[in-house]
Amino acid sequence: MASGSGFYSITVAGAASDLSTLYAERIAAPTSRYSDLCDRKHQMSRRDYPRWDETSTGNCRREPALAVHGTRAGRLPCCVRRANMGIPTSGERVTVNSDDTRARSVFMEVHSGLPREGPGDRASTGRAIALAQPLPASADVLDIACGPGEQTVHLAQLLPAARIQAVDYHRPFVEEASRRVATAGAGHRVKVSVADMRALPFETGQFDLIWCEGAAYNMGLTNALTQWRSLLRSDGKLAFTEAVWLRDDPPDELHDWWMAGYPDMGSANASLELVSRCGYRLLGSFVLPDHAWWERYYHPMEDRLTILEEKYNGDPEAMAVLEDCRLEIDYYRRYSDCYGYLFVVAIRES
Ligand SMILES: C[S@@+](CC[C@H](N)C(=O)[O-])C[C@H]1O[C@@H](n2cnc3c(N)ncnc32)[C@H](O)[C@@H]1O
Repeated sequence: MASGSGFYSITVAGAASDLSTLYAERIAAPTSRYSDLCDRKHQMSRRDYPRWDETSTGNCRREPALAVHGTRAGRLPCCVRRANMGIPTSGERVTVNSDDTRARSVFMEVHSGLPREGPGDRASTGRAIALAQPLPASADVLDIACGPGEQTVHLAQLLPAARIQAVDYHRPFVEEASRRVATAGAGHRVKVSVADMRALPFETGQFDLIWCEGAAYNMGLTNALTQWRSLLRSDGKLAFTEAVWLRDDPPDELHDWWMAGYPDMGSANASLELVSRCGYRLLGSFVLPDHAWWERYYHPMEDRLTILEEKYNGDPEAMAVLEDCRLEIDYYRRYSDCYGYLFVVAIRES
């Protein structure tokens, strides 16, 4: 889960673009070059993500290892790769090579038709909505990076008179979310469209509520909080989930795996401090419960992986992608006490 970094890389403007290209190189690199590439990646992490060394962020402060323990060096959290699997937007240059295209297509097979594309559930969305109350009856709501739209539908049901705009830059997700919204009978007040969250096509002060489940990392939390603030009305509210460390002593293999994907990941307190530094007052926060990871996300993904493992038996390239997805699930199964998703609800301070 990283801002702009990923396995299925597209080049994006800004500091993270080198890192994106590097991951694309890394997955295609012969084994003998892995440690060199890891080394370069970590140098870049330090340069491009200066918060790494700042105590105030609460990040796990530890020297990153130069090799990823016990894993194929190309492995990153699925959510990191997902961050970059969408349609390139204008000005972006696609840098993936054919190996990446193949891996990406298998990855997309895993990630098409799942109930959701990240941890979350209706109860948690409802709990966050309760923290955001009071809201105007016909609130203007923006759901950023809506994926296939599960939480978009929940928002429409929980706020029955709200006008909702939902955006994602991966067109198949936008189409799926639109279908779900229509099936839920909310098409007249929920508009789903393709948009890049780094350049949202909205006016300042347009929304009473901004929602973002599992995607702020795509543009970096500080950047997201800053840009979203200007889209909110003076007393507008914000709700988002963010990956955080729940312990400051995670096992090395887990630490390195997350740092390869999301070097900016901090503690829950660090994320909350950032929220107030960016001009919001905290209304409440909670860590997503375990079942919000399993029921609508990892269990369906495991079912999909079982089918695809049979389909791609004997195809090492495809199997490597599936193994990576299994690894992500396995890490959560083993280490869910070490990290989680924090749901944060805050109000814009004037
Ligand atoms: C972890 S998924 C979360 C999706 C959904 N909110 C959910 O919880 O099911 C992250 C989403 O971010 C989207 N995304 C990644 N980069 C984006 C960008 N630059 N602009 C818009 N959407 C983006 C992906 O397409 C994906 O749908």
